[in-house]
Amino acid sequence: MNNFVFKNSTKLIFGKGTISSLAAEIPAGRRIMMTYGGGSIKKNGVYDQVKAALSQFSVIEFGGIEPNPTYETLMQAVALAKEHHIDFFLAVGGGSVIDGTKFIVTAMLYNGDPWEFMLNPSKAQHAMPFASVLTLPATGSEMNNGSVISKKATQEKLAFAIAETYPQFSILDPEVTFSLPKRQLANGVVDAYVHVMEQYLTYPSESMIQDRFAEGILSTLIEIGEKVVNDEPDYDLRANFMLSATMALNGFISMGVPQDWATHMIGHELTALFGLDHGVTLAIIEPSLLRATKEYKKTKLLQYADRVWSIKHGTEEERIEAAIDKTEAFYRNLGIKTKLHEYNIDNKSFDTIVDRFAKRGWKLGEKQLITPDVIREILNGCL
Ligand code: NZQ
Ligand code: ZN
Repeated sequence: MNNFVFKNSTKLIFGKGTISSLAAEIPAGRRIMMTYGGGSIKKNGVYDQVKAALSQFSVIEFGGIEPNPTYETLMQAVALAKEHHIDFFLAVGGGSVIDGTKFIVTAMLYNGDPWEFMLNPSKAQHAMPFASVLTLPATGSEMNNGSVISKKATQEKLAFAIAETYPQFSILDPEVTFSLPKRQLANGVVDAYVHVMEQYLTYPSESMIQDRFAEGILSTLIEIGEKVVNDEPDYDLRANFMLSATMALNGFISMGVPQDWATHMIGHELTALFGLDHGVTLAIIEPSLLRATKEYKKTKLLQYADRVWSIKHGTEEERIEAAIDKTEAFYRNLGIKTKLHEYNIDNKSFDTIVDRFAKRGWKLGEKQLITPDVIREILNGCL
């Protein structure tokens, strides 16, 4: 097991009716900016619950943070927050609103154009305090410090994370997920699943606890995924889904293990160029990536086939293929198409994507073996 340091400063408040506990969590007298998305919280009662809980505070609202939040929109929030001397931020929404708020709180304290710290994350140092009310289980943003921001002007999608971008607390009430459309539920299941795979499906590192945690989350998502997406909302299924997504990316399963993240990095390009949902990009890229890297992921792929899919028979090659096929079928059964042609995308953009990685000089994957040529091979496998 590799050395590691673990610290996660987010307080998790989980369960039915917990939005009402908001007021007790925010220091009295704070001037709050409440950030949210395109309006789903006004239809499902979350907005009213939050406003009622914050009735004793001075609150400025900033709505309209879009899925795949943009620098252009978020800079408007920064200007408004400065104008009103805001000193606490509350994100109410899914990963996009929470990520957008992480950018806002960091930009508030940054001297210069904040896009600089997206291009060079070591430039960001401090962030103002913020918290979240999560409405969409998927990204884990409610209990991690990562943030993924897009820039319309250049069609870029980049990530940053600093120690101060952990939410101070996050409220997770599974009932608020009852209004989610099937498309977002399916995206969320895939996103959580692939987060686990990025930290699990690499090479063995004698990380027995982390492996069993990871396999537990994967098995849970397989057990409940289709029911969550297709059946009438069930509180306990939604609670397990919500906790799975949080546990998938809050640092617990990444302790001392090698990590991949190439599926995410390539997927971000498909969102940046074609606007595909984040979860969709992962369902497209990941099966092809596993096929392209199966030689050096072999030991973990066999473990995954055995423990997660109970594939016990066949040659090593057959078991690995069967596990990848089952993974792809799992995504398709959630209603997500896994091939680019099903979204009318052909190979014309591949040069642009490959060039971007070549120019950045990034070496992707747990062994840094995913070069621009391998990225092209992976993309060809997605057609
Ligand atoms: O904007 P509103 O009207 O609120 O509607 C949203 C949005 O249209 C809707 N929604 C959210 N909660 C709802 C709801 N509709 C009905 N009922 C509810 N309870 O769902 C739509 C999608 O929301 P969004 O926040 O964009 O989805 P998600 O949570 O999947 O976030 C995706 C973003 O997170 C980034 C992705 O790249 C993408 O930009 N990620 C962030 C990560 C992190 N911070 O650690 C890691 C991830 O890998 C990911 O990259
Ligand atoms: Zn993700």
